[in-house]
Amino acid sequence: MMKKEGNGGALPRHVGIIMDGNGRWARSKGLARTNGHTEGLKTARRIVEAASRRGIGYLTLFVFSTENWKRAAQEVDFIMSLVKQHLTREFDFYRENHIRIRHTGDKDGLAPDILAEIEQAKSDTRNFEGMQVILALNYGGRNAIVRAARRFLAGGGGVGPGLDEDAITRNMDNPDVPDPDLIIRTAGEFRTSNFLLWEAAYSEYFITDKFWPDFLAEDFDAALAAYAARERRFGAITT
Ligand code: FPP
Repeated sequence: MMKKEGNGGALPRHVGIIMDGNGRWARSKGLARTNGHTEGLKTARRIVEAASRRGIGYLTLFVFSTENWKRAAQEVDFIMSLVKQHLTREFDFYRENHIRIRHTGDKDGLAPDILAEIEQAKSDTRNFEGMQVILALNYGGRNAIVRAARRFLAGGGGVGPGLDEDAITRNMDNPDVPDPDLIIRTAGEFRTSNFLLWEAAYSEYFITDKFWPDFLAEDFDAALAAYAARERRFGAITT
């Protein structure tokens, strides 16, 4: 048998992160869940910076899912206000790092002020040619696939052989963004939680027990190292 070479030390082009464990982090310290989200936002900034420095091309952050509306209204409002604050206050950070902001998720259901802030950030950063940060906000993987199919049909596509995998891919929110190579999940759960269902068909997963607020640049590097050592076969057989 040939020696397994791993992934050739490759850097993932696109990394997705399920930033889990803000609530548990807060509880473990006797704090309110909202404190966990405040720390979670600081971690997001730290990891965006680290990923950009490492030369990652695309970073998708799972900020708020289509299921997160089931949480207490006060917590939902707090997360939305954090996102809004971040987008209004951090333009210099994105400019200095040449980072472009994008969005994936269902715009229906997002409050007009959040939507306006997202559109503003997208437009302000659209010419930055460094890493792209894709904020998954009001995002659900199944919802994204349904919306892609609807877009195809609304664009004049019919039900038939034309409605194939390429057609769905072309009609996703950001069809130019490559599929994620690596998905990181914090807080130790072994679930996809409806994140990038379509795009993650061949993604490598890295799961750590650390709660998101405790996740450091060195943990991100550990995920990159684990990825570099993986053997990706995309369904093929290596002998
Ligand atoms: C999961 O913790 C985290 C969230 C629901 C999202 C909150 C994310 C942020 C505040 C970062 C936002 C980032 C940017 C760049 C705008 P959880 O509450 O599900 O934790 P638990 O499972 O321990 O309760």
